[in-house]
Amino acid sequence: MERTLIADTFTSLFSAQPILVRSPGRVNLIGEHTDYNDGFVLPAAINKEIVFAVAPNDLSRCRLHAYDLKESEEFDPNAFSKSKKGWANYLLGVVDQLKQQGFTLGGFDVVFGGNIPQGAGMSSSAALECGIATALNHLFDLGLDQTSIAKLSQKAENEYVGVKCGIMDQFANVFGKRNHVIRLDCRSLAYEYFPFEIEGYKIVLFDTNVSHSLASSEYNVRRQQCEEGVRLLQQHGLEIKNLRDVTLDMLVQYKSVFDEVIFRRCWYVVEENKRVEEACYFLEQGDLEAFGKKMYESHEGLSCQYEVSCPELDFLVEQTRHHEQVVGARMMGGGFGGCTINLVQEAAVEPLAAHLQQLYQQQFDRPLKVYVGDIVHGTELIRQA
Ligand code: GLA
Repeated sequence: MERTLIADTFTSLFSAQPILVRSPGRVNLIGEHTDYNDGFVLPAAINKEIVFAVAPNDLSRCRLHAYDLKESEEFDPNAFSKSKKGWANYLLGVVDQLKQQGFTLGGFDVVFGGNIPQGAGMSSSAALECGIATALNHLFDLGLDQTSIAKLSQKAENEYVGVKCGIMDQFANVFGKRNHVIRLDCRSLAYEYFPFEIEGYKIVLFDTNVSHSLASSEYNVRRQQCEEGVRLLQQHGLEIKNLRDVTLDMLVQYKSVFDEVIFRRCWYVVEENKRVEEACYFLEQGDLEAFGKKMYESHEGLSCQYEVSCPELDFLVEQTRHHEQVVGARMMGGGFGGCTINLVQEAAVEPLAAHLQQLYQQQFDRPLKVYVGDIVHGTELIRQA
């Protein structure tokens, strides 16, 4: 339905036949705040998407239309600056990266829209970046492979939007595979797919419906704290590049050189990297209980040591502990709001959701949104012009 709407809107606005690209949101099972420390993550693309309709024009202009917001923007692909419209900068950032890589783009028109909730930590931003990059790759025959698309989309966000995110979201968006999670080594970008079709269980997201203003500033502070920890260890003679090279033993040995907060931040990251490895082992063994325990431990670390949770997220995770139909739960993404990710017995999804919605409303006086996530394929062309 959404796809037809976007295509039809394009045709009525621009009187041309567009290509269509779909670009999904993502979840992350475990491995949070590890990507920018060159560590491990375990994300997957999910059944929320942004659809792009795109076609070249012969005007040497780019005309963009955001279907859901009913807003438009226009620019010259060879000379442009930042837009006042937040959403446009994700697209402009990608065009800017392509320019920096020496590509000359002709004019093109875009209509996009979809159902990835914004600010819920499902990475609608990576979907915007990778979706437009994939569309332009097809349209102008740029010859970019998937890794280049993920990397340039991340750079667009780092440099143009100004969020110093890691590679996880863009990688999951591009490399997503139906019913599989991706274990990604964020240093080498080596990756492995693990089947994640667990009989009788569902991935459920509980959306706090809050997005605290701390999110982006504190994200960058966490990055600096990790770098600070690495610098301290380097000053004491350790030959390490970043927290990926650090073990818990090293942290214990050098504990006295750390300020207490930096120590806790580093401890969390090093432990979380280990947890991803352990969780993958349990997944291979089909031991969902043990996998779920790692998710709870991850939340504990994010909340108490890394301090990127918030009362709403902690409340939702805590509540699931009273329900044995939930095998694992934790906050997901950057933190300070957004969603928790839960592994829930299929039959319990509806009653649990209803119960938590009621409790959440009572406690925080706001609605709790619920999404059941199916794991889908990454960004792809779904219709040629
Ligand atoms: C955000 C960033 C990712 C990652 C997560 C935390 O989603 O975009 O790169 O750092 O936070 O794991």
